[in-house]
Amino acid sequence: MTTSTLLQEIEKYIPIVGDINIKSPLAYQATRGAVEVVNTVQMAVAEAYINGLEVPDLVLESLFDTCMPIFFQYFPSLLAPYEWVLKETDHLAEGSRELMKIQYDLPQAMLNTMLGDGKLIYPKYSMGLWEKGALNLEQSQMQMIDDVIEKLDIKDGDNILDFGCGWGCVPNYILSKFPNVKFTGLNLSHEQCEYIRHKMQDPESYLSSDRFTLYEGDLNNANFETKFDKILSIGVFCHIGNLTEAFKKLASFLKDDGKVFIHIITVRIPNNMSSVYTHKYIFPHGRYWNYDAVPSHKQDLKTIKQWYLNGFNYSQTLTHWLRNFDENQATIKTLNYGMDYAKFRRIWRFYLIWFIRNFACCDGEYNGNGQFLMVHA
Ligand SMILES: C[S@@+](CC[C@H](N)C(=O)[O-])C[C@H]1O[C@@H](n2cnc3c(N)ncnc32)[C@H](O)[C@@H]1O
Repeated sequence: MTTSTLLQEIEKYIPIVGDINIKSPLAYQATRGAVEVVNTVQMAVAEAYINGLEVPDLVLESLFDTCMPIFFQYFPSLLAPYEWVLKETDHLAEGSRELMKIQYDLPQAMLNTMLGDGKLIYPKYSMGLWEKGALNLEQSQMQMIDDVIEKLDIKDGDNILDFGCGWGCVPNYILSKFPNVKFTGLNLSHEQCEYIRHKMQDPESYLSSDRFTLYEGDLNNANFETKFDKILSIGVFCHIGNLTEAFKKLASFLKDDGKVFIHIITVRIPNNMSSVYTHKYIFPHGRYWNYDAVPSHKQDLKTIKQWYLNGFNYSQTLTHWLRNFDENQATIKTLNYGMDYAKFRRIWRFYLIWFIRNFACCDGEYNGNGQFLMVHA
């Protein structure tokens, strides 16, 4: 027996540390008990903050900087707050309407200001690429989309589906570069679709060309007659609870020689990750798949290439979002969030600060983004 097999064998019986997936029943139950304690403490700290406890950002940052490396390196199983985080759910995506209400259909003036709303780069709610020298948020998002174009090998004339298209930023930019590409965007957020419909009437927008089609609807019910050359999905699979069903669906939309490109937040720990805080206040039913989750699926679609993008890129992106959020309070605070604004502001600042530190911690090597190029299995 090698040393690593021996260590794994021992780890099975020790609660809390290491890989939850290999624990003996007793160690598994003890670990779930410890998770309950972590959940309670986390929520107590977060809710004290959002209900008004005065804590300087520096203290909050230090708290995350201290805790997160320990969780990532030694106690990853404590980062799965619910058992559903560890396994596939019944539906392809759970609680979609609640997610729209709490997150994506919030006042768009707030989201657009935070994410940046340019002439070509519309609001984009996913990682920008900074490691190639981008000087600002817009450049980082352009370089990120250029990276996708290259890895997915987009060719002029391709018919492409954007699964969870946000505000249409990626289609708009790609249509601007390729005069014969066709795009279909799918999104459940009514408010984001309204933004897109407005752009579809604007002659200066590439979305106004007849090469772009919008479908407002749920990923769960998505159905297309057309088969696509390429399918991309950026920042959406954190809302997918069942990879098996999702890949089956995507495969049914894909031409025989087509390619799928999935870009997601990922964690390089043995299990998937989520938090009681984000589940309640930010992304209901959201989860971050571990880096092996997508490639371990070999039914319907299989991964032929994969890349890990260092979390530093997302930490930088989120730092810009927080800055935009803070610097535009005069407008942002006048909007209706269905709750006291001071509380809303704290909910969002807690989320943004936490994520900035999460992606930066351990030199960005644990929590980053994964990109997966897939073809028919
Ligand atoms: C983080 S945003 C990313 C948007 C876009 N891909 C980008 O990079 O800017 C996730 C997107 O997925 C959409 N989405 C989430 N769950 C969905 C569902 N069940 N059906 C359709 N769209 C969904 C959201 O409305 C949102 O537009």
